Amino acid sequence: MSHQKVIVLDFGGQYNQLIARRVRECGVYCEVKPHTITINELRALDPIGIIFTGGPGSVYDPKAPQADPEVFQLGIPILGICYGCQLLAHNLGGRVTAAQSDSAREYGKTETFFDTDCKLFDGLSQKGISWMSHGDYMEKVPDGFALIAHSDACPNVAICDESRGFYGVQFHPEVNHTENGTLMIRNFLYNVCKAKGDWTMGDYKDMAIRQLREKIGSGKVLLALSGGVDSSVAAALLAEAVGNQLTCVFVDHGLMRLNEGDEVAAAFSKWNINFIRVDAEKLFLSRLAGITEPERKRKIIGEEFIRVFEAEAKKLGQVDYLAQGTIYPDVIESGAGEADVIKSHHNVGGLPDYVDFKEIVEPLRMLFKDEVRQLGRELGLPEYLVMRQPFPGPGLAIRVIGEVTKEKLDTLRKADFIFREEVAAAGIASDMGQYFAVLTNMRSVGVMGDGRTYDYTLALRSVTTTDFMTADWTRIPYEVLDRVSVRIVNEVPHINRIVYDITSKPPATIEWE
Ligand code: XMP
Repeated sequence: MSHQKVIVLDFGGQYNQLIARRVRECGVYCEVKPHTITINELRALDPIGIIFTGGPGSVYDPKAPQADPEVFQLGIPILGICYGCQLLAHNLGGRVTAAQSDSAREYGKTETFFDTDCKLFDGLSQKGISWMSHGDYMEKVPDGFALIAHSDACPNVAICDESRGFYGVQFHPEVNHTENGTLMIRNFLYNVCKAKGDWTMGDYKDMAIRQLREKIGSGKVLLALSGGVDSSVAAALLAEAVGNQLTCVFVDHGLMRLNEGDEVAAAFSKWNINFIRVDAEKLFLSRLAGITEPERKRKIIGEEFIRVFEAEAKKLGQVDYLAQGTIYPDVIESGAGEADVIKSHHNVGGLPDYVDFKEIVEPLRMLFKDEVRQLGRELGLPEYLVMRQPFPGPGLAIRVIGEVTKEKLDTLRKADFIFREEVAAAGIASDMGQYFAVLTNMRSVGVMGDGRTYDYTLALRSVTTTDFMTADWTRIPYEVLDRVSVRIVNEVPHINRIVYDITSKPPATIEWE
């Protein structure tokens, strides 16, 4: 079964991925394509609708990104957002100019008035907040177009030609700051493009399994399983598709959180696959002995990981396919064509150079993270695996400050587990992008019972973030912090002091090393 498809034409806007996510959240499959796509390529994709994204340029700039004018002759509905709206107007006989006065330029939350008889704004209130970010504006609307929204500063906030299914909005419906923005996108998809809503992860699972079977045939597939969400879901999908033709190598470096290695192994026990858990704790700890410098730790772990994986892969002889958990944001970020492959290599730290295989398979390369999680659920992976927060490749080695020893790792594991348990009990996990404990190498004096202690300080870290490039520290309720602190000091030997990290990123990073 093939899905209906919407194409998001990329003109260089900041929120392009978000547009694609919103469309998929509405149950319609969509792909982001560069604006340079040829008209024949576009036609071959057979989209039910096209969305022009925003972009940094001005349409009257000779170097501004353009769409092939034939796109307006295809008989396919178009929604233009911000720059995309101006491009639509510019191409169809309207006039776009630089806003001469500050009042015509609009940035930020803007009160907007909508014509709710128009299909795009069906079901909205007549007044709402929209997120604007434009320096140019439509001075003259193209012939045949109606005005369907305005603000106090700007008479031409949205336009439409319902007979051709062309819509343009100056604001960004894809960002959360626009009230009912997702409803507008939904309206475009269902009222204008006549979407059926045939994009569900259940359907996707069946389709992906069929395609993987066709592609792989009787070939052998190898996958490096880290226990993270992406590699786990890729493994589960391949397990369902090709069963024991799949070999998963799970290098257990002994730097995972409490019970994590066992949980990963247990989750895959239901499939008839070759699951190799390499117990490499002793090896990694011996290589890390005496090392205190963070970059050295990272380097040693990265190299050792490749060596262990390579040794296991060699035992298998020739494999046909190396599978990877690359997901769609990696693909979009790396652009089209050759760059994709370079990024894939990067994702597994250079593994393809070391392993003998014919081809790479990336069964998640068209999915966003939330879709990957949903697919994991469809495949029957447990919730704790599917909702796992990001975990760094070097594991707890970069959360034990200074030298890494088994004793320190065990201490950190117990404390980290208590922190996670209390966060779950308080029901606040969804506000926390990533949260964990760090064992510092600082010791201080304390008193326990009647005795003096001289033990380690543990730091709690939690950040609120969507992109992990910037982050704010989470305002965890004091009562929760208090419970965590009391429990850790009482239950975990060698910790007598707890501190909470209240630095954002930047200037700090999320991890301490
Ligand atoms: P920082 O500390 O740079 O972390 O603010 C940003 C995000 O990246 C994760 N992280 C890593 N992930 N391998 C990974 O796969 C690594 O070596 C690594 N180092 C940091 C970190 O947990 C956070 O989510």
